[in-house]
Amino acid sequence: MEKNFKRITVTSALPYANGPVHIGHLAGVYVPADIYVRYLRLKGRDVIFIGGSDEHGVPVTIRARKEGVTVQEVVDRYHYLIKDSFEKFGISFDIYSRTTSKTHHKLASDFFRKLYDEGKFVEQVTEQFYDEETNRFLTDRNIRGECPRCHNHEAYGDQCEKCGATLSPEELINPFNAETGHPLVKRATKHWYLPLDQYQPWLDKWILEEHKEWRPNVYGQCKSWLDGGLRPRAVTRDLDWGIPVPIEGAEGKVLYVWFDAPIGYISNTKELCEGNPEKYGNWETWWKDPETRLVHFIGKDNIVFHCIVFPSMLKAHGDYILPDNVPSNEFLNLEGNKISTSKNYAVWLNEYLVELPNRQDELRYVLTANAPETKDNDFTWADYQARCNNELVAVYGNFINRALQLTQKYYEGIVPPCGEVNDYDRETLSEFKNVKENLESLLENFKFREAQKEAMNLARIGNKYIADCEPWKVIKTDPERVKTIIYNSLQLTANLAIAFEPFLPFSSERLRKMIDMESFSWEQLGSTDLLPAGKQLPKPELLFTKIEDNVIAAQVKKLEDTIKANEAAEYKAAPIKDIIPFEDFEKMDIRVGLVKDCEKVKKSKKLLKFTLDDGSGEDRTILSGIAQWYEPERLIGKRVLFIANLAPRKMMGEESCGMILSAVNYNGDLSVTTTLDDVKGGSQVG
Ligand code: MF3
Ligand code: ZN
Repeated sequence: MEKNFKRITVTSALPYANGPVHIGHLAGVYVPADIYVRYLRLKGRDVIFIGGSDEHGVPVTIRARKEGVTVQEVVDRYHYLIKDSFEKFGISFDIYSRTTSKTHHKLASDFFRKLYDEGKFVEQVTEQFYDEETNRFLTDRNIRGECPRCHNHEAYGDQCEKCGATLSPEELINPFNAETGHPLVKRATKHWYLPLDQYQPWLDKWILEEHKEWRPNVYGQCKSWLDGGLRPRAVTRDLDWGIPVPIEGAEGKVLYVWFDAPIGYISNTKELCEGNPEKYGNWETWWKDPETRLVHFIGKDNIVFHCIVFPSMLKAHGDYILPDNVPSNEFLNLEGNKISTSKNYAVWLNEYLVELPNRQDELRYVLTANAPETKDNDFTWADYQARCNNELVAVYGNFINRALQLTQKYYEGIVPPCGEVNDYDRETLSEFKNVKENLESLLENFKFREAQKEAMNLARIGNKYIADCEPWKVIKTDPERVKTIIYNSLQLTANLAIAFEPFLPFSSERLRKMIDMESFSWEQLGSTDLLPAGKQLPKPELLFTKIEDNVIAAQVKKLEDTIKANEAAEYKAAPIKDIIPFEDFEKMDIRVGLVKDCEKVKKSKKLLKFTLDDGSGEDRTILSGIAQWYEPERLIGKRVLFIANLAPRKMMGEESCGMILSAVNYNGDLSVTTTLDDVKGGSQVG
């Protein structure tokens, strides 16, 4: 199917410039897109790879208001940070621009205007929530109020996070501005809608009948949207940040971010081509010629916009081609939890680059090996370490190192001539010819995870070949034979440099330097004469190095600390109990006790047994459920507060006379109370 196209336009979702990018972005969209594009380039296909920042919409405005800076400052900061992270991870965009560019503003504006002039929109006046204090209409996420179901007072206009109900702002009781707390009123406002219902028959046919080959998760989501029946969607918003609606009487209104952002793919292509027409030609070829294949790489929360809304816009416009495929991944979790920008729970690419320097390929490798292609997946640092050490170092790196070191050892780094090839050699060589075909079919079907496995298989074949041939033994009996073994191993090495290029571009480049391989192309994959006999190879270095335990432990701790900080920040103290008269308080006899002895209670995981000096001259025994938090030795000699007149209780066969007072931390941890200064055992507390 792909073979009928002359060229390919590849886009990857434009990330919001409201924060740095993290491993979820990389795994879900940018690494797969980059693998695909690098593969096509290696094949010599005509391809462009379009990226950019999504700088409109509500998220950037929220961030700006929170920080008390202008929206422009926010998008500038993150645009450059994101661009830099992508570059450093080898995401090989032909252009990474932004939706605040002039080219984009004009193109998106003209796009809207054309549809408007041709009567493709429906105008509608509705009542929306308005804040008279700040004079603005609020979007769903900016509205809070009481949940009609569970009466949580802080439900959002689109969802109650307490009971999980999906809401609309109208359902909230006493809605207020989420940022200021100011109550809201309703006000009439006019907007323009794209009547998706009118496109439904066409979409039903185009997707459900003509694109059955789309990934099941994508096809399934489209089907459920279509089965539910499409409704008109507003493509404008009352907001002061965005592209102004280019018609009279629309002051204070901008294009909805999901209207302008996908047009950004087109604008960025235009900017690219106009900046380098010799290389890229006319931008319109990439978007209007039916012989161009359009492929969108996105995350699963973007499916409806790329499969239903944007195609309907393109169809309404009439000049453009439609996406041929929309490979979308599911979500990547992190150590069992949801990645969250607002909760700072992520592995941020800019931080990874500093904390694990020069290990971009390691992350690319693990994210592809574990890619959430068909279901949500979990990234764990333990898995990261295992894959780096057991696969990259022990399989791929090990093979390369053996092949190159043996070449140094036996032939001073000169590629030996190939002698007679035996059956086992032939079998091995044919195996890695198969790898090429398998790789191609997997890559062309967006199965990157399996494709990378297949490339790794090539390294396994190499390891097995050297291990089976045992050149270190044969060198003593049949040195001619060793030349052939090493020759073949070096050809395999060169093949690996090609096969891994789309996945691990940095190590491939280093490997190519180690074998002095200047030009290379996909078609050479499977060849057995890539490195000619007599070629002098430079001194090899290690392709990969082990990831140590302490590096992993530090990363795990960092995430745990974030969780703790979030829990502490979210903690709300329990409500104060009912008021009691002073006399009730006086009934309680709280004292200071000196811990003379403390030990674990046999057969109990929870209890510690205290022997206290309570000033009476006789030892007092109290059992307390704090074993999880204290080694008993740590408490001996300390002062503790306890209730002295509590009725004795039997626990685990022991009598407990009183209760040691502990504070319960936000996370349930217990902390024993004491006095600030040295006080005698038996002193009263009150
Ligand atoms: N900014 C959106 C997100 O992060 C993606 C926009 S993709 C595009 O979810 F189509 F709008 F470009
Ligand atoms: Zn609720």
